[in-house]
Amino acid sequence: MVSASAPGKVILFGEHAVVYGEPSLVAGIDKRVYVDAEKKGDRISIASDVGSSSFSLDEIGLPAQDELRYVKKAVELVFKRVDKRTGLEINITSEVPSASGLGSSASVSVATILAVSKLFDADLTLKEIAELGHRVELEVQGAASPTDSSVATFGGVLFIQPTEKKVDSIEADLSLIIGYTGVERSTKVLVERVKSLRDRYPGIVDPIIQDIGRLTREARTRLERGDDVGDLMNVNHGLLEALGVSTEQLSRAVHAARDAGARGAKLTGAGGGGCMIALAPNHQVEVTRAIEASGCSAIRASLSRAGVRIE
Ligand code: MEV
Repeated sequence: MVSASAPGKVILFGEHAVVYGEPSLVAGIDKRVYVDAEKKGDRISIASDVGSSSFSLDEIGLPAQDELRYVKKAVELVFKRVDKRTGLEINITSEVPSASGLGSSASVSVATILAVSKLFDADLTLKEIAELGHRVELEVQGAASPTDSSVATFGGVLFIQPTEKKVDSIEADLSLIIGYTGVERSTKVLVERVKSLRDRYPGIVDPIIQDIGRLTREARTRLERGDDVGDLMNVNHGLLEALGVSTEQLSRAVHAARDAGARGAKLTGAGGGGCMIALAPNHQVEVTRAIEASGCSAIRASLSRAGVRIE
């Protein structure tokens, strides 16, 4: 048996705009997804907290709509990469709530790619794992940036420039509190919502996307100098509101956190539910309480440099 794990993530800046080629800033967190895989029989059997599935090798590659579609696609792409296939038993456990905006889909894809490729003694480079992880997201979601798959692979704080296919590692130390609305949502649906708005109002939506790109570049510069990025987080949240991906609950938590002393706060990930983050170098207790009083549960997580790895 091979066990692999990959980290969840918070997007600090740039979600949605990164789908249109603008940069994103993303950080790995110390909540991980674990995948145990072993060769067994002539079926693929997957068990996880969100569901289970068993199918024959002939069914690999058929369209799947269930919760496990990222795992199925990851297995299919590894089989293609190594040009071999076999029955598998896969068990998934996760510290990252699914469909919460904390990157569980990319983490499970990337950890599956590492675990299953190791079963075939294939030594994929991290770059190859990140690329396969991105392909999983592209094929399952239709549109996806390399943000989530890169951070699930490399960990740390990353500045991603999709058009240049560049991923830079940044030194940054941030004290973040995560608020989870408890509302599951689909990244695919939210990415389609922004696309539909942009298709209808390109002259209005494109400048918003470009502004998010500008503030993400400015945030990188400030982070590298050790300067505060709270104001930029607040502006980013406002622009995400304008794109229609916040919810009343998310924005309530964002404002509650700011009122309690957070330097900045914004939704993180695709929005529509999921999570928000507050930058709270001070007043941590007050900010945590305010987020909880607004109707979210606070998740304690630290930034983590640990990317995908064999356990
Ligand atoms: C999802 O975590 C982030 C989005 O920007 C989609 C993507 O980058 O693929 C909304």
